[in-house]
Amino acid sequence: MTLSPQWLEQLRSRVTLSTLIGRTVKVQKAGREYKACCPFHNENTPSFTINDEKGFYHCFGCGAHGDAISWMTEQRGLGFMDAVKDLAAEAQMDVPAPDPRAAQRQEVRATLHDVMAAAQDWFVAQFNGTEGAAAREYLNNRGISESTIREFGFGFAPDSRGRLKQALSTHGIDQLIEAGLLIKVDDKEPYDRFRGRLMIPIRDPRGRVIAFGGRILGDGEPKYLNSPDTPLFDKGRTLYNLDKASPASRRTGRILVVEGYMDAIALAQAGFADVVAPLGTALTEHQIERIWKMVEAPILCFDGDNAGQKAAMRAALRALPILRPSHSLHFISLPAGQDPDDLIRSEGAHAFAALIAKPQTLDDKIWQVEFDAEPLNTPETKAGLKKRLSDHVRDIADQDIAHHYRQEFNDRYQAAFFAQKDSRSDRRFTPNKGRKFPSKFVSYKPLDETKSFLIEGYDLQIAKGILGGLIRHPCRISSHFEELHAIKLADSQLQILLGELINVAMSKETLDMQGLLTILEKTDCYNVAKGLLRADALNFTFNRKMPDDAPSQLIERAHKDLAEAIKVVTARPGLEAALAEATRRVQDDLTEESYAEQQRLREAKQLFHERLVDLTQIDDTL
Ligand code: UTP
Ligand code: MN
Repeated sequence: MTLSPQWLEQLRSRVTLSTLIGRTVKVQKAGREYKACCPFHNENTPSFTINDEKGFYHCFGCGAHGDAISWMTEQRGLGFMDAVKDLAAEAQMDVPAPDPRAAQRQEVRATLHDVMAAAQDWFVAQFNGTEGAAAREYLNNRGISESTIREFGFGFAPDSRGRLKQALSTHGIDQLIEAGLLIKVDDKEPYDRFRGRLMIPIRDPRGRVIAFGGRILGDGEPKYLNSPDTPLFDKGRTLYNLDKASPASRRTGRILVVEGYMDAIALAQAGFADVVAPLGTALTEHQIERIWKMVEAPILCFDGDNAGQKAAMRAALRALPILRPSHSLHFISLPAGQDPDDLIRSEGAHAFAALIAKPQTLDDKIWQVEFDAEPLNTPETKAGLKKRLSDHVRDIADQDIAHHYRQEFNDRYQAAFFAQKDSRSDRRFTPNKGRKFPSKFVSYKPLDETKSFLIEGYDLQIAKGILGGLIRHPCRISSHFEELHAIKLADSQLQILLGELINVAMSKETLDMQGLLTILEKTDCYNVAKGLLRADALNFTFNRKMPDDAPSQLIERAHKDLAEAIKVVTARPGLEAALAEATRRVQDDLTEESYAEQQRLREAKQLFHERLVDLTQIDDTL
């Protein structure tokens, strides 16, 4: 039997002890550890502790002590080999012996470590030599310091098909191929994989080099080239910078997850040492589990652009089935088009620190992404939102967590669409909990001021609310003359009423609702006007009956909301037209720019919609 200490250590590190023990005994979170009533002796208050990071349990009552393997032998009663086999199956590891080939693989790994160490030394030597000048200059231009270069072990692969092969030939061509350093196609001569690239060593948790990432200097494809999977390197299980981040996280209690290695390096240089990155793939379940061994809620710091947000959502959905109490993911979104490296370079470390101080929770993230996925202006799209949310809840395996998610999503859904009708949910829900409106979008300037705006469809309903509001608050008509003039309502009766309102307001300096109604009584639109005062289809603050002694705060709020509703309605036709135009452009010629423009307009449109939902949220505390 040849189970090496290294192999056993790897096995232990891949098993989450609290999860293993939690299958037989009820465990409770207690600080960084877990507690349980000791399964080795009788007790009513828990003195049995489990430490996932160290990988062992200890009972302060009876002194029972051990790791995952002794748990399987002593508590579950398995023989040593059976215990190891069970755990290995769960950790997806091969049990080495008695299979001689597995023992051989172990040996291969040992030699591959030597090969990788030699390659790393060689790349560093090239970096420091004359040929490395361009690579050094590149890093210098990116603001990477000398000490960061040394700490992260940057190297350089010369632009040649055979230099590494020659330099490392003593290790044997087959080893170099197996280590992923040479490429062999069919029976052609093997050649160097990394050519003309800045080299970034990727290390295992013990700090040994197991793979490389190579960045092109300047433009070219692919921008980053990684080692292939090898006996040492499993991309989906590896996290860049884990060897340094793990000890750092013990001091900070935090782990930041960024998208690329250059982001991780830039953050580390800026003082955020507790940072890891996946390797050009979406975050996998294995990587999430690995991070959870260090902290309960890592903060995912992804680009605010479309690709970054997609990656964030993919990670969120992958976490759902494996969520367990107290463990989650947190999110921050960077300004669109910026990664952490860009942000730190343009705004400084404090800008990044401010962002990570207020991360978004997983439930909020999922709600926000689904809520923003499409306009919610029909019964079908609203029901679609509900279905997507409940599908996500169904993915959560932990029943307690699933229950809370269902409740949370229900509350938000109710509040978004039924708030006025169900005052109970109002009390539980603060509108737009955790949602921020990027201020750049909260400008409702009509896109084309020379046109008049045809108001139709759903917006006509809002227009009705606005007309009703103007009747209740006639003093506001003159404040919006310009916008009201530009509006063309796709309903002739309403259009006539609007004209009358403008006329009356132009001829009268001061006007209250009763005065206005007396004048309208002599016109054809009196009944329409009265109808709008009764209309309860849209329940904006300015549609509510104002008592004579209404506090000024309430009146001001109504005036402010009325102004905003008018702005939304007059900006929307222009926005719709621009969106239609952008969509045509995307269909004709899909470029990064045309797509970004379409996305920007879709976001703006969604934001308008949300503002309207907001305006209908009557706040009874006012
Ligand atoms: P980005 O293209 O956003 O690169 O890809 P970056 O990290 O900002 O790189 P710089 O700042 O231009 O140097 C994000 C990550 O996706 C992976 C890499 O891990 C990269 O860090 N990637 C990207 C690849 O694996 N291959 C590629 O061709 C591009
Ligand atoms: Mn970058």
